[in-house]
Amino acid sequence: MESMTFVLFGATGDLAKRKIFPALYNLYVDQKLPKSISIIGLGRGDLSHREFQEKVKESVLDFSRRLEHDAASMGEFLDDFRYSKLDVNRKEDFQALLQLVKQREEELNLEENRMFYLSVAPEFFDTIALNIKNSGLGQTKGWKRLIIEKPFGHDLQSARELNEKLSRAFAEEEIYRIDHYLGKPMVQNLEALSYANPILQSLWSKKHIANVQITASETVGVEKRAGYYDHAGAIRDMVQNHLLQILMMTAMDTPEKINAAEIRKMKQKVMESLRPLKEEDVQNDIVRGQYISGEVNGQYVPGYLGEPGVNPSSTTDTFVAARLWIDNPSWAGVPFYIRTGKRMKEKSTRIVIEFKNNANHQYKNSQMDPNLLVIEINPNENISFQLNSKNPLNNGKVEPVKIDFSKEQTEFGVPEAYERLIYDAFNGDSTFFAHWTEVELSWEWVQPILNAFEDNRVPLYEYNSGSYGPVAADLLLLENGFKWWLNE
Ligand code: BG6
Repeated sequence: MESMTFVLFGATGDLAKRKIFPALYNLYVDQKLPKSISIIGLGRGDLSHREFQEKVKESVLDFSRRLEHDAASMGEFLDDFRYSKLDVNRKEDFQALLQLVKQREEELNLEENRMFYLSVAPEFFDTIALNIKNSGLGQTKGWKRLIIEKPFGHDLQSARELNEKLSRAFAEEEIYRIDHYLGKPMVQNLEALSYANPILQSLWSKKHIANVQITASETVGVEKRAGYYDHAGAIRDMVQNHLLQILMMTAMDTPEKINAAEIRKMKQKVMESLRPLKEEDVQNDIVRGQYISGEVNGQYVPGYLGEPGVNPSSTTDTFVAARLWIDNPSWAGVPFYIRTGKRMKEKSTRIVIEFKNNANHQYKNSQMDPNLLVIEINPNENISFQLNSKNPLNNGKVEPVKIDFSKEQTEFGVPEAYERLIYDAFNGDSTFFAHWTEVELSWEWVQPILNAFEDNRVPLYEYNSGSYGPVAADLLLLENGFKWWLNE
C-alpha cells in the first residue's frame, strides 16, 4: 500500500475514540496499515503529541476488537500519531497544519498522498473543505481524498448546497461518504449472495418474490444525542441513508462486473425506478411514530418527550415505516417495506424476503408458511431459509423448518465496519461508499415525507417502548395481505 498522511478532523471527539482509533489499531495489528503513515489528529483543545497519543491508547484499550497491546507494538503504533490544535475558521491553523504535514512527509519520506477525514459536526464540512483547498493542503503531487461522515445535508436543498461546496475542493472520485451500514459484512455480502449463487439469482425478482421487508429496530432511546436527533428524526437518521442503502443493495440487478462503477450503476438504477411519493401517497404509505414510556429488556424507560434535551412538545419521529415500489421489470408490483425505530422490542437489522406461495391449498390441515430467506445483518450475522417439510412426529403434517447458515466466529470477531471502510478508502476503493447520485436520489425520495412531517399532514402515532412500533405499521402490510415476519 502507498505511504500516506491521514489527517483526522475531530480527533478528540466521540467517534474518533469509539470507532476510528480502534479501527486504525485493528488494521495495524492485521498489517493492513501502510508501512509508512503519518496520522495527524486535530481538535480545538491544547494537547501535546504525547498527551494525544495517550488518548489514542486509552481508546484502543477500551474499544479495540484486538487484544494484542504489548508495549512494543503499541509504542510503534502510537509513534505515527501527532496532534495539532485547529480552529476550523483560522487560516493560520491550517498553515500550521500544512507545515506539520510537510515536516512529517519529509521525516518519514512519504509520498504526498493525503487523506482528510471529517469526523466533525456537519456545519463545519464546507469550511474545512474550502480551507484545505485555500491553505495548499490539497495541492499534492500524490492523491488527495476526503472521507466524510453523515449527515450529508438536512434535506434535498442543503445536501445539494453542501455537495456543490465540497466539489469546489474535491472531485467526486475523491469523496468517500461514509454510511457505516455499507461497511457491515452482511450488507457487503448482498451482492455476492445473488451473484455467486445461481439458485438465488434465478429467484431474485417479482416472479418468485411476494414482498421484501427491511427492519432496523433498536432498543436504545435517543441517548445523549437529543440536540441532533430532535431535528433529524428517524427519517433523516436512518431512512434516508442506511435503509435506502440496504434497499439498493437488495434490489439491484446483478451487475455485469463486480466493481465500484458497476455496483453503483445498479444501485442508482434502483433509486431511479423508485416510485416518487405524491402528497397523498405519504399519508397512505408512510407511518410515523414516537415512543412513550414502557419496558425494554425488563427495565422501565421514559418516553421520548421525557428524555433530557428533547423539546417537550416535539413531534419528531422516532419510528418510521414505509411501503415502497420499484417500478422496473424486476420488481414491478412487489412491495418493499422498511421500518426503523428507537426503543423497540429488540435490536435487529435484517432483511426478510417472502417468496410467493402457490402450494398452500394442496395440504389440508397443515400450516404452510411461505418460504422465507432471512438475512440478519446486526447484531447477529446469519442467513437462514424457512422451508416447509413433513413432520413424521406430527402425523406427517407439513410444517415450517428453518435452515441456518451461520459462520463460525473467530476469536477476535470479524473486522468492524470502520475498519473495512477506512481500509477501502486507503486503497481507493469506493464500492461501499455512497456516491453523490445515490445521496441526491435518496433525498429526492425522502423530501415529500419531510414536508408532510413538517406540516403535520401525517398522524404521529405513539408506541410503547419495548413494542414493535405502532399498529399502523402492521396495517401497512395487512392492506396487501402480508405481515411482518419474525415479530416474536
Ligand atoms: C447511526 C444513527 O447512524 O446508526 C444512530 O445515527 C443509530 O441513531 C445507529 O443508533 C445504528 O447503527 P447500528 O450499527 O448499531 O445498527
